This record gives sequence, C-alpha cells and structure tokens, in this order.
Amino acid sequence: MRLDKYLSLANIGSRKEVKKIIRQKRVSVNGALTADDDIHIDPYIDEVRVDDEKLTVILDVYILLNKPNGVVSATSDEMHKTVLECIDASLPQGCFPVGRLDIDTEGLLLITNDGDLAHRLLSPKRKVDKVYLVKSRNPIEQDTIIKLESGVDIGDETLTLPAKVECTDETTVRLTIQEGRYHQVKRMFAACGNEVTYLKRISMGPLQLDENLKCGQWRFLSESEVEKLKNG
Ligand code: URA
Repeated sequence: MRLDKYLSLANIGSRKEVKKIIRQKRVSVNGALTADDDIHIDPYIDEVRVDDEKLTVILDVYILLNKPNGVVSATSDEMHKTVLECIDASLPQGCFPVGRLDIDTEGLLLITNDGDLAHRLLSPKRKVDKVYLVKSRNPIEQDTIIKLESGVDIGDETLTLPAKVECTDETTVRLTIQEGRYHQVKRMFAACGNEVTYLKRISMGPLQLDENLKCGQWRFLSESEVEKLKNG
C-alpha cells in the first residue's frame, strides 16, 4: 500500500496533507525517515511513525478463499486445519470466516475482520443469494426440482425458502438459496430422497468464486469487489 494512502487511512490528514507531512520528513518507515510519498509499505509488517509516534492502524481485510475439502470453517480447531490456516499471510487480529461451509464443502469463503459487513451478508432478512454447485448420488427427478423450487420440509419450524434450480446434467444442479441453515443443501436433498455427493459454493451475493483460484488458494478482494459487497 502507498505510504500516503496508509497515513490518510490512519487519519493523519487528507492525501494532500499527508504528502506535505512526508515531504517535511516527519515520517519514518522502519526507523528511516523518508520524503518519498509514493513508496509502498506492508501495513502488516512495516513500522510507520509520524513525529516519532508509532501508528497502529487496523485495516479491514477481505479475503476470498477457495476452501478445500478437509478444512473447517472456524478460527481455531484442535483436530483439523482451519480456513484461517489456509491464509499464508500475516493477518490482523479478529479475522473470521463469513458463515460456515461444511468440512467437505469446497468453494467460495469470505474471510474478513469487518463484522458489520459479515452481519449484513448473513442476516436472514437480507436474503443474500448463495449459489452452489451440487452433485447428487441419484438422478434429480422433476418432482425434486418442484419441491426445491417451492420449499422443502427439512424438519425445521418452517419450510426452506424457494430455491432456484438450474440443471446441468441429470445429477448436477446449480442451486441458489437465500438462507444459511445448518447443512441446508444436504438436508434439502435428503428430504427429497437423494444425497449430495459433492458441494461447492460458487457465489455469495455479488461475490463470485475466482476461476483462477485452485482449491486452497486465496487472494485479497479488489476494491471494486469490496464496494459491491458493501453496497449490495
Ligand atoms: N449447505 C450444506 O449442506 N453444506 C454447506 O457447507 C453449505 C450449505
């Protein structure tokens, strides 16, 4: 991140004001004074001081992980590798996965320290679309499609909300749901007498799984992805 951007995020002043402060040689990076406003720093590693006062800025972090099978959606776990342990970069305190994917579910998982955004994405009232690629043990009957589209009794107090079903072949569908109940997709298929054999999340609201990310790989979200999530 550019030094001047970092300083303005730390509320030192506007971009114009911080450029002036840097040119006045009041800013040091790792102990060395700098007059250069377009140098890049690593906000998680480098020590930045203004007038010898250390800055501590907790930046919002937004990470897209293509979750692999065998990893748990938790911040710590005694038995299994966690999704946070898939991120081989230094993260600020307080990062967590937004919602849970089962240990054997793959695909899109957002990791952040932005509690407000997570709350909005997970709020049942907001009905955020989650799209899953689902493979099933048995062919998906017309009757099952009708049930999924109209609401399924999975043993909760209410039926599931109507899902959108797009069949790819006789045992594969793209399923769009707007809730996040425990094991929801697996329970919806079980309630229709079928069984999920493979499950992968491919989008959540406006955020799409990046085709270039192999299972287990991650990247930071772009500014436009973050904007879309916040405005969605
Ligand atoms: N539904 C499930 O059954 N499992 C998941 O991981 C996500 C949705």
